[in-house]
Amino acid sequence: MASYKKVSFTRMADGTAADYQIVMNNTRQDRPHIAGHVLELLEKLKTVNPSYQITRYHHSLESATLAEAAGESEEMIVAALLHDIGDSVAPENHSALAAAVLQPYVSERTHWIVLHHGLFQGYHYLHHFGKDRNLRDTFKGHEFYQACIDFCAKYDQCAFDPALPAKPLAHFLPMVKRLFAREPFSATKTAREGRSITSLGYAVAQAKQ
Ligand SMILES: [Fe+2]
Ligand SMILES: [Fe+2]
Repeated sequence: MASYKKVSFTRMADGTAADYQIVMNNTRQDRPHIAGHVLELLEKLKTVNPSYQITRYHHSLESATLAEAAGESEEMIVAALLHDIGDSVAPENHSALAAAVLQPYVSERTHWIVLHHGLFQGYHYLHHFGKDRNLRDTFKGHEFYQACIDFCAKYDQCAFDPALPAKPLAHFLPMVKRLFAREPFSATKTAREGRSITSLGYAVAQAKQ
């Protein structure tokens, strides 16, 4: 059983440098468990929203299998596997949840694709609700616009097919573990990327350099 020190303060304003070092160390100590927690969200997709001919879980495996078969990077394969993990707790903005989970470990491009995939997928159904199916064109001209369209076309919208081969989770597990073993925000290299990130983790990662 891992041991954790505790801070002395009861109000953050009273915390000392030593206190915050304890918080930092404990955060780091917890890091190896992140992949497991994320996979628990993936597991939940076995029962969430059973509208389709396959489960949301199987959809995720198909998506990752397609990405791998297309020769995508390991990062993109994991992104395909995890792009819908928000479905059980944030179905209306599930893209944002998955994107936030992945952001410290992936490139700006991968983050952008996952963040916007929900809106881009709307192309396939928004018009059935009397809405503009081309809402994604709000982002036309963005450097990752086409990449997000391609992700949705090749790995997402087509991955609802019981006949499609899907590799088991065990096949992708080493990839997931390697991704979450990355130093958070190490893929974040440009100042522009930095400005788009408001998290404490990013600030701390930058401060250490
Ligand atoms: Fe989705
Ligand atoms: Fe999906």
